[in-house]
Amino acid sequence: MLALARACAEGTVDLADPRAAAHLQPPSLAVAAAADVLAGVFNASVDTWDSGPYAVEIERRLVKGVCGLVGYGPGSGGVLTSGGSASNLQALLVARDAAAAKSRDVRTAGLAGFGRRPLVFCSELAHFSVARACAVLGLGEGAVRAVPVDGHHRMRPGALDAALRRADPDAWLPVAVVATAGTTDYGSVDPLPEVAAVAREHGVRLHVDAAYGCGALFSDRLRPLLEGIEEADTVTLDLHKTAWQPAAASLLLARDAADFAPVTGGRVAYLDPDDDGEAGYDGLLGLSLQTTRRADALKVAATFLALGTDGIGAMLEACHDLARHAERAVAAHPRLSLTAGATLSTVVFRYAARDPAASDRVNGALRRRLLRTGTALVGRTEAPGGDGRPAVHLKLTLLNPRARTADVDGLLDAVVRAGRAVEEGSTG
Ligand SMILES: Cc1ncc(COP(=O)(O)O)c(C=O)c1O
Repeated sequence: MLALARACAEGTVDLADPRAAAHLQPPSLAVAAAADVLAGVFNASVDTWDSGPYAVEIERRLVKGVCGLVGYGPGSGGVLTSGGSASNLQALLVARDAAAAKSRDVRTAGLAGFGRRPLVFCSELAHFSVARACAVLGLGEGAVRAVPVDGHHRMRPGALDAALRRADPDAWLPVAVVATAGTTDYGSVDPLPEVAAVAREHGVRLHVDAAYGCGALFSDRLRPLLEGIEEADTVTLDLHKTAWQPAAASLLLARDAADFAPVTGGRVAYLDPDDDGEAGYDGLLGLSLQTTRRADALKVAATFLALGTDGIGAMLEACHDLARHAERAVAAHPRLSLTAGATLSTVVFRYAARDPAASDRVNGALRRRLLRTGTALVGRTEAPGGDGRPAVHLKLTLLNPRARTADVDGLLDAVVRAGRAVEEGSTG
């Protein structure tokens, strides 16, 4: 065991190191990691009540509490899933079945005879799991209509409206609009009230992917970013991103808990018979695509008890402040060029190569150099360059609330030094 721990420590990326700033993967909180060990030791499964009554109850209370923070009423509900991709998949499953239910029961009859071609509308910056979910659900990736974004990387509601109007109702069946509250690269939040109004006008379900932005629920200062989220039919919230939980702790919430009913269909005799349910011995099987499911709510509950939800909010605020600092520092640096400033906790930029034609190569190589030399881990993505064509960009994803502005300055200095070294052809 000790040898394994040593091997892990030697071969890992230390997410608590301020120089680790690549992915939406925070350093996990000690209290959450400890509670996660407890969950493993007790090994409750929340599908049936008798497999772990305490775990079932904790998940129910957690869901209820977070529904309240979203602004959902008493009829709401939700479930923990294995990640944002799984939450988005289940949300689109619910939307697919709800859209089809007007004419046929897809659950039993399958997609044959679905009739009109299904459509899912999301911004061009929506997470790839939306398209993947469409493929898995038999809608096909071709069902995705990518709506253009504005200069701040937010879905344009007018363009959404136009796209929905273009969908001939005899040929196409709009299944859902997916808004993103916190795009993966930019942290940008689609204008939720306006998007909700368009979806409502067209009678289409709205799902909000707040996998990244969910941490703003816990912060008075950042909560306004999520204004309108309560209008969504379903929302994805990844607490393993901006609530500093060990993976996985994703929540899929629904304004109307009854939405989940078609997910699993009827009861299963050996797990949740009707009379047990009626007598109050009800597990969570009917909410989830999984059967055996671990008590992931335990770590979140322990965190909220230890820090309060406002404690989590303060952590995101600290990361937001760091990102604002990074934005200013990049903008002021002669060898860096800012592409997108901070909405949540990411900043997208480029190292300004002396030869602009070599920019993609230099930015890609400098990132690998930082990685290879163990200096830093910064993110990489693709964004339109000066000529509008896709170009290699760098990204800081700042999720370490203990990092200091001096750490951010050090990271940016390291980027510039690595850029120069690449340009000079150094192999070190
Ligand atoms: C906006 C958004 N949605 C969904 C996901 C998928 O989350 P997960 O990796 O937990 O499946 C991500 C991951 O980064 C994301 O950024």
